[in-house]
Amino acid sequence: MRCRKCGQKAVINMRQHRLALCGEHYLEWLPQQTERFIKKYEMFTRYERLLLAVSGGKDSLALWDVLWRLGYNVDGLYINLGIDGSLDYSNQSQRFAQQFADERDLKLINVNVHEQYGENIPEIAQRTRRGQDKTCSICGLVKRHIFNQSARDGNYDAVITAHNLDDEAAVLLSNSLDWSLERLGRGQPLLPAGGGFVRKAKPFCRFYERESAAYTLLRGIPYIHEECPYSTGSKQLFFKQDLNRWEEHMPGTKLRFYLNYLTALEEGAFPQRQESPAELDQQRCPICGQPTITGNTCAFCRLFEK
Ligand code: AMP
Ligand code: FES
Ligand code: ZN
Ligand code: ZN
Repeated sequence: MRCRKCGQKAVINMRQHRLALCGEHYLEWLPQQTERFIKKYEMFTRYERLLLAVSGGKDSLALWDVLWRLGYNVDGLYINLGIDGSLDYSNQSQRFAQQFADERDLKLINVNVHEQYGENIPEIAQRTRRGQDKTCSICGLVKRHIFNQSARDGNYDAVITAHNLDDEAAVLLSNSLDWSLERLGRGQPLLPAGGGFVRKAKPFCRFYERESAAYTLLRGIPYIHEECPYSTGSKQLFFKQDLNRWEEHMPGTKLRFYLNYLTALEEGAFPQRQESPAELDQQRCPICGQPTITGNTCAFCRLFEK
C-alpha cells in the first residue's frame, strides 16, 4: 500500500475514505482534518480559552497535541477518580497526562474526587451497591459535573472532550436501541453554552479510534494502554465490538451511521431541549449552584448525600 500523496510506503489505510498515507503525510492530514471539523461545527477559535478533559489515554493526549500544534490556547483537566485495579489505573493515567503537560510546558489542572468530595468512584459504587454499567454511569455523571464546574471556576470559554467516532457510534447505537429521543436530541459535536452549562465540543468525533492511536504512536506520545477495569463487559464495549464487526465487512459503516444521524438531527428529527437558557438559569441546584432540569438538588449532589 502506497501513500496517495507521495508514493512512499503507507503506514495507515483508511478504507472508509479510500485513503492510504505515509507517516509524514498522516501527521499533516489529521490536524488539517481536525481544523476542518472545528471550523465546520463552529466549535471555538484561537482567541478563546479552552479546557480539554484529559484522561491520559491516546485520544485525549493526541487531541491535546493536535490543538497545541495548531496554536490553540488549551489547558488540560485531569480527574483522578480513584480507580486502582491491579495497576493503580487512575494514578498511572495521571502520570501520563502530567508528563505530557510538563514536556510541553502546558497547564494541567488536577481534580482528585476523593480529596474534593470525600469518596472516589469505587467507594460510591460500593455504597450504592450498583452493578458494573451503573459504575460507569456514576463515573460519567461525576466527570460531566466536574468538567462544567472546573470550566466555570476557571472562566473557560469551552470544555473539550476527546470522544472519537467509535465512542459516538456506540452511544448512538445504544440510544437508538432504547429509542431514547431525549438523548438522541443532544448528540451534536457542539453543544452551545446556556443556562450555566459551558459550551462543549468534540473535535475528534469523526476519527476512528485506530486513527488517534496511529497518531499517538507516530508522534511518540506515551499514554496509558490499559482500559479502565470497569469497562470490561460494559454495554458500551459490547456495542463497539459489534460495530467493528460490521465495519470489517462494510467499511465506512460507523462513519455513515454517525454522519447521517447528524444530518437527521440538523433536520429536526429529534426533540431538542425545551427549556430556554434563561429558564434553566433560574433552576440552580441549592447545594452546588449548577443548573438542573428540576430545580432541586442535582444528581451529582444527591450522589454524595449520605
Ligand atoms: P470516556 O468517558 O472514558 O469514554 O472518555 C471520554 C472523554 O472524556 C475522553 O476522551 C476525555 O476527553 C474525557 N475523560 C475521560 N476520563 C477522564 C478523566 N479521568 N479526566 C479528565 N477527562 C477525562
Ligand atoms: Fe469511569 Fe471507568 S473511567 S468507570
Ligand atoms: Zn506520503
Ligand atoms: Zn448540585
